[in-house]
Amino acid sequence: MDLNGKVAIVTGGASGIGEATVALFHAQGAQVLLADKDAARAEAAARQIDPDLRTVVPFAADVSRAADAEAAVAEAVSRFGRLDILVNNAGYGIRASVTGTSEADWDALMAVNLKGVFLFSRAAIPVMEAQGGGVIVNTASNAALVAIADRAAYVASKGAVAALTRAMAVDHAAQNIRVNAVAPGTTWSPYFDEILKTHEDPDGFVAGLNARAPMDRTARPSEIAEAILWLASDRSSYATGSVMVVDGGMTAW
Ligand SMILES: NC(=O)c1ccc[n+]([C@@H]2O[C@H](COP(=O)([O-])OP(=O)(O)OC[C@H]3O[C@@H](n4cnc5c(N)ncnc54)[C@H](O)[C@@H]3O)[C@@H](O)[C@H]2O)c1
Repeated sequence: MDLNGKVAIVTGGASGIGEATVALFHAQGAQVLLADKDAARAEAAARQIDPDLRTVVPFAADVSRAADAEAAVAEAVSRFGRLDILVNNAGYGIRASVTGTSEADWDALMAVNLKGVFLFSRAAIPVMEAQGGGVIVNTASNAALVAIADRAAYVASKGAVAALTRAMAVDHAAQNIRVNAVAPGTTWSPYFDEILKTHEDPDGFVAGLNARAPMDRTARPSEIAEAILWLASDRSSYATGSVMVVDGGMTAW
């Protein structure tokens, strides 16, 4: 198995892409700290994957809080003895252009989607460096590469995640820490269900999105998790600073 003996933290691990990533990492032999701000959902998701909670451990953490990032890293190390992989996956979007976005909504989104990546990486890198290396995978979006209408703050946050991925890759290559991002296209997760609720014509919205991708469908969370697994495993040993697009060809058009 690709992750035998490895210890990982997955943020936003209680749902969607994060949950699928935890399940796949577990199936590949990793021990995983499932970090999510929703403690009840984190526990339920962890139990679903590992009923004894021995190799998948739920941990309540808000990625926008520095103390939670430090505590999550400390918990992974105290439970499992090391930390090899950090997946910065927690994130969300709001449906608004710049003129429709309040300052509070902008700050709150940036605190999770961008600052959360900074805080968890800052907490994890010293541990990885002391161990001789590690891997960070950030969940960006294909919105880091092309704009999506009416998602200004989200698009900006994901562009910044891609830029931060490159910055960290450059800064920490000498410490044997690889940093990459995955850029999913539309993925049918619980988050996507929430977005659909804000549309008057959800079927029409989905059809329009599908039509933007040559593959004419949305992704399953597990299809994004497969790319995260590759970036997290030693199989991607020469990849750092990359943004791996997994979007059914949406940005190829
Ligand atoms: N679904 C898509 O179409 C899509 C496309 C591209 C990128 N993404 C990105 O993928 C990631 C996962 O999205 P998803 O679709 O699986 O969403 P989701 O809503 O199904 O899951 C996100 C998880 O993150 C958690 N979370 C939210 N804020 C948090 C915080 N402050 N601290 C800790 N946990 C927090 C939520 O509780 C939830 O469990 C996000 O970064 C999202 O932007 C999603």
